[in-house]
Amino acid sequence: MVTAPALAGRMPAVADRGPVDLPFSEADFARIAAFAHREFGLNLQASKKDLVYSRLIKRLRALGLADFDSYCRLIETADGAQEREALTSALTTNVTHFFREGHHFELLANLAVKPQLAALKAGRRLRLWSAGCSAGMEPYSIAMTLLDALPEATQLNIRILATDVDRAILDRAQAALYAEEETRPIPDRMKPQAIARAPDGQMRILPKITQMVRFAELNLMQDWPVRGPFDAIFCRNVAIYFDKPTQARLWQRFATLLAPDGLLFIGHSERLNGPAEATFTSVGVTAYRKTGSMTGPVPA
Ligand SMILES: C[S@@+](CC[C@H](N)C(=O)[O-])C[C@H]1O[C@@H](n2cnc3c(N)ncnc32)[C@H](O)[C@@H]1O
Repeated sequence: MVTAPALAGRMPAVADRGPVDLPFSEADFARIAAFAHREFGLNLQASKKDLVYSRLIKRLRALGLADFDSYCRLIETADGAQEREALTSALTTNVTHFFREGHHFELLANLAVKPQLAALKAGRRLRLWSAGCSAGMEPYSIAMTLLDALPEATQLNIRILATDVDRAILDRAQAALYAEEETRPIPDRMKPQAIARAPDGQMRILPKITQMVRFAELNLMQDWPVRGPFDAIFCRNVAIYFDKPTQARLWQRFATLLAPDGLLFIGHSERLNGPAEATFTSVGVTAYRKTGSMTGPVPA
């Protein structure tokens, strides 16, 4: 199999020319925007042309490519899988932090865990999904919330699925190591059972937390090899990159996978739209409960 760098090596190279500006035509931009929409649901309006150039020129230099046509040819081939990931990484942000939008975690504890304590202790299944989990702070915050509300959580039928399209960021999530500064938002009462200092001075997420979380690579624009129903889905600050029809389809797919009364948490600047809107009832800021019915497969 030809690897991406090998393929790149067969293309015109900018060898030793240093950081030069390269032509980026409207046609180049349109080709990349169409590809990013088709593959990753990204909504790149014409106003984003300069941003796309500034993010991708670094990729062209790293690969030693001389023009955007070579770059497009690379990502469009089967051999460009690795670069396709780098492309989505370059065009989106991985910004995340522990207990981001903290009210969502309080709602999770108060609506999905505390009313179910007896049933959960008796073996009731609880399934949660962090879709677009970035560096892992979101699923680990969910696990910390569960352990705080239910100290036996690790021995019960509780699982958290954490997915992202970006393999590199998933590796970071699975390493479960964070700078002390990054762990500050974790509530003090949860810290002793959630984190400990590693020999290199970083903070390690303890096995009690990590064992509840399973990470997997998943592109939300493709088929989802996941098994519902889920009691709660967190998909926050991800749909912001998608256009309205793509967002509407995403909410609809989540609605079909949620259990009756299941919870959906979305980002602070995101809004529900499309057919799924009527299925959900607001239970807090950007937090919803599935109160209507939505069944059947929705195409990816
Ligand atoms: C800003 S982060 C949000 C992280 C976390 N949910 C939070 O709110 O803190 C957005 C994440 O969405 C991921 N993402 C973007 N497009 C995606 C897609 N098509 N499928 C799956 N994940 C995607 C990115 O890789 C990135 O890690």
